[in-house]
Amino acid sequence: MDPAEVLLEVSRQVSNCKRCGLHFSRKKPVPGSGQANAKIMFIGEGPGFYENQQGLPFVGAAGKFLDELLAAAGLRREAVFITNVVKCRPPGNRDPQADELAACNDYLDRQINAINPALIVTLGRFSMAKFLPNAKISEVHGQTRWVKDRLVVAMYHPAAALHQPTLRPVVEADFARLPEFVKMAESHRPAAQAASPAAEAEPSEEDLGSATQLSLF
Ligand code: URA
Ligand code: SF4
Repeated sequence: MDPAEVLLEVSRQVSNCKRCGLHFSRKKPVPGSGQANAKIMFIGEGPGFYENQQGLPFVGAAGKFLDELLAAAGLRREAVFITNVVKCRPPGNRDPQADELAACNDYLDRQINAINPALIVTLGRFSMAKFLPNAKISEVHGQTRWVKDRLVVAMYHPAAALHQPTLRPVVEADFARLPEFVKMAESHRPAAQAASPAAEAEPSEEDLGSATQLSLF
């Protein structure tokens, strides 16, 4: 299956998923959105109020800030892939629980394998913990780590910076280094992990303009 087909299949399965208790209270599941051949994948925590209404990731206040951070780094949301460690909203935006993270993990792994991004950016401590189980975000944010032959950078969650103004310049500085991280990821990536030729092709402007919002399916 090509990457876009895998993403579509994951989206379809997520939309009917009852693997964990979060399905009881969700309105719309949020599988993720963006390019199947994205070089950068952002992984947040879980859908919030507006994401649950719309079925799209990062569309609330944190999402607006994320768009600003991406724009400042010269990136457009359509050129990256954005998802979460849990695809359904934890009630009242509580933390996702271990059993929910475990139940949902396979969807995320399949998305990562399909997209095969050069760089993974984790947003907040739950997605960081998937790759850097014992790390402290205050110590490792903005640093690159190779995890299973893929470059991973942990960042503070944009919502944390909205709640804690002192974090804002820290998050901005970390995001400003994204182009540098992508370059590093691409130049040092072990050959065995390199994306397939199809996945490596640069999307044309036209492709970007009509970027598939996979979560709409
Ligand atoms: N916060 C997240 O972690 N994910 C979203 O999709 C929205 C807010
Ligand atoms: Fe399924 Fe994940 Fe939603 Fe739980 S959070 S119901 S595992 S899609």
